[in-house]
Amino acid sequence: MADSPNNKGSLTIVGTGITLSGQMTLITESVLENADIVLSVVTQSAFINLKNINSNTISLRDLYDVNTSRLVTYQKMKQRIVDEVESGKRVVAAFYGHPGVFVDPSHDAIDELRNKGFSVRMLPGISAEDCLVADLGLDPSRFGCQSYEATQFLFRRYSIDPHMLQIIWQIGCIAEFNHPKNKTEHPGLATLMEALLKFYPADHKVIIYEAATIPLVAPRIDEIPLNELGYIVPNTISTLVVPGLGLPEYDTETMAKFGLTPDTFKQKLSADNG
Ligand SMILES: C[S@@+](CC[C@H](N)C(=O)[O-])C[C@H]1O[C@@H](n2cnc3c(N)ncnc32)[C@H](O)[C@@H]1O
Repeated sequence: MADSPNNKGSLTIVGTGITLSGQMTLITESVLENADIVLSVVTQSAFINLKNINSNTISLRDLYDVNTSRLVTYQKMKQRIVDEVESGKRVVAAFYGHPGVFVDPSHDAIDELRNKGFSVRMLPGISAEDCLVADLGLDPSRFGCQSYEATQFLFRRYSIDPHMLQIIWQIGCIAEFNHPKNKTEHPGLATLMEALLKFYPADHKVIIYEAATIPLVAPRIDEIPLNELGYIVPNTISTLVVPGLGLPEYDTETMAKFGLTPDTFKQKLSADNG
């Protein structure tokens, strides 16, 4: 692990992947072993794995409180990380999945410590989206991809391009601001369904996706028509996948600037593909 200037503390943020074991990179395992302290926000089972790698691993999950806004909890997590680095330790903060995907405290701690002159870095991990691409066989580059958080999507005037693949995160806690927990009532899903029905036909197939968190267990892949979305029961780890409607029309004006037409473009593509 890189030393910080003046032997001050340093921070490396790592991701442990989604599946309990096997998705941690070799470099992540190495920095975990060599850390003075590991602060973790992972499941109980993953925490035991981390403890086996570095006995000085502390869970920050106790900061979650059902009556406290998630933003306040994230702020406290960031502060714990910053305090340990400022006390001069080589700190590793471990989050599940990719530590930079939908994780506020990791980015906030890096920003604050970098501004204060500490050595900081983030190592990539395997996110739920990575698992989704593999399990569902959906290449985000094929039709383009939009990826966003369910509540933000509903509360802001975003527009979506229905040709593209849509990945909608946190559908299990729409319009909820405290620590998410599994439950049976999800009124926000009906609102999300109404919003999506403006762009897609009622029978457009969508997928409730949950990557396996335990090895050898199958992922949840529930395909349903869009007009049934309001009635499903998601978990806190569910992600909604809306496959795209296919490629949009050609923009012949722009193609002409490159001396191309749709036909010559298709010929070029097939020639390039051998
Ligand atoms: C706070 S974000 C954390 C994302 C995580 N850092 C990652 O790299 O995937 C939580 C959201 O990620 C998605 N998620 C987490 N675990 C998942 C899983 N096993 N399968 C599918 N989506 C998952 C869900 O949308 C969930 O609401």
